[in-house]
This record gives sequence, structure tokens and C-alpha cells, in this order.
Amino acid sequence: MTLIEGKKVAAEVRAELKAETAAFEAQYGKKVGLAVVLVGEDPASQVYVRNKIKGCEEAGIRSFAHYLPADASQKQVEELVAALAADESVHGILVQLPLPGHLDADRILALIPTEKDVDGFSADNIGKLALNEEGTVACTPFGVMELLRRYHIDPRGKRAVVVGRSNIVGRPMALLLLNADATVTVCHSRTADLKEECARADILVAAIGKPKFIAAEMVKDGAVVIDVGINRVDGKLVGDVDFDEVSKKASFITPVPGGVGPMTIAMLLKNAVACAKRAVR
Ligand code: GUN
Repeated sequence: MTLIEGKKVAAEVRAELKAETAAFEAQYGKKVGLAVVLVGEDPASQVYVRNKIKGCEEAGIRSFAHYLPADASQKQVEELVAALAADESVHGILVQLPLPGHLDADRILALIPTEKDVDGFSADNIGKLALNEEGTVACTPFGVMELLRRYHIDPRGKRAVVVGRSNIVGRPMALLLLNADATVTVCHSRTADLKEECARADILVAAIGKPKFIAAEMVKDGAVVIDVGINRVDGKLVGDVDFDEVSKKASFITPVPGGVGPMTIAMLLKNAVACAKRAVR
């Protein structure tokens, strides 16, 4: 069994980006700029945003952090995003989700121009992915593909099973694997025979959001197992995969923490650099 060390790969990606951002600055006389908007005080979101800002520093990206109170109005958030959209020193805009319940997230995200959509959440970017055209890909599934690539795992011709169909992970993950010539099955809460579907997978991606949901009996011997889950149980981070048991059967497996999580941020930074390069070309 090979442990897929996302933490290590993410550090490599950040180091590569540092060289790219330095070259960008030398050529264009300004830094790559990423704006991060956090509304409210959700503790998990605060940690993610802090790590995103820290990642920017390490990769030589100028970060613009904007913190709004939990009771910020729709108009306040919209005005901020619109201002960032018009700001030439900002190449990418990220609005941390979830937003407080009184806000209309769709209307806020719609104000992010496609060319600054570092999350790849816009209909335009999802459409490009569905058409296998170049665009910005959502950071977490993009990070999974980068891990597969760096561990020389080629999805071509493999049976890939994605458990979860969220707009942020499951759907784009399935499209990426399809674009990489895998035979893709997407499972979800209404899937009949989930266990049998999973047990057929050469590459199994778990993005369900339930701790230790994927048991050893759901995994084929020699499968590649990618755990996207981040669940907090008794103050500890646990993935969607029962790591202790499943790691006995898998050929490759990602740990939680230290697997997919760090890659999400690394790919966000990569997306920001790509947006900046497109803005100047
Ligand atoms: N909340 C959880 N994951 C993400 C993400 O990838 N991007 C944003 N903007 N918010 C998130």
C-alpha cells in the first residue's frame, strides 16, 4: 500500500508556484492578487481562510482578505464583490462558503467575473469542464487529479466510482475523471446497491461527508482510494473512509488529515496564478 502524501505534494506545488509568481512579478511589475471574502465567524471557515492566506504568502501571491460580520447585508457583500471584480490588482476572487443563511449565495457568486472565478464554481467554468474545454476547475477535484498524476495513476480505461454529487466536489470530479478517459459511475444517497457499485471501483473517490462511511467490504483489493471527507469527531478529523481497515486492501490511499485537504489550497493558488496569467495575455 502506498500512502498518497497530499501534504508533501501540496508543498511541492506551492514551491513551483513561487517561481511562477516571481517570474510574473518580474515581467509585469505587479504581484498575482487573490481576494478572499469571509462573512461571519464559522470556525471551520475561519481555519480554511487563514490557511488560504498563509498559502498565498508562501507562494508569493498578494492576498486581499475581507472579513464581514455575520449580519452583513446582501447589499454590503454584493458591493464588496463588485468592487473586487473591478479592481485590476485582484486576479481571483474567492467567497468562502457556506455563507450565513440570510444571504443569497447564488446572487453573490454571480458577481464574480468568470475570469476571476478561482473556485471554478461559475456556470461558465462548469460548462467548459463538461465540454472538456480549458477553464478553471474546482480546487478539490483538481487537487485529486494532481495527486493521481503525481503518483502515476492514469485513470484511462479504469472504473472510477465517485460517491457524492455536490457541485463543489462530486460532479466536477466525475467530469474530470471522464475527461481522463475513465469509465465513471456517480453514486449518491439514492443509489441502490451502493456497496456493490463501490466494490467494482479501480479508483474510488469518497465525497459524502459521513465519517468512516466507506468500509473495507465496499472496496476492491488493490483499489486506489481517495478520501475527500473532512469530518470532526470528538475534536479529531476523520475522513469518509475507514482508513485503518480500508488501507489493508487499497493499493494507494489518501490519509485524513494530510491527503486531499492541503491540495485544495495548493490548487486554489494555482488557479489564481492561471487567472493572473490569462488577465495579462
Ligand atoms: N467551502 C468549502 N470548500 C470550499 C471551496 O473550495 N471554496 C469556497 N469558496 N468555499 C468552500
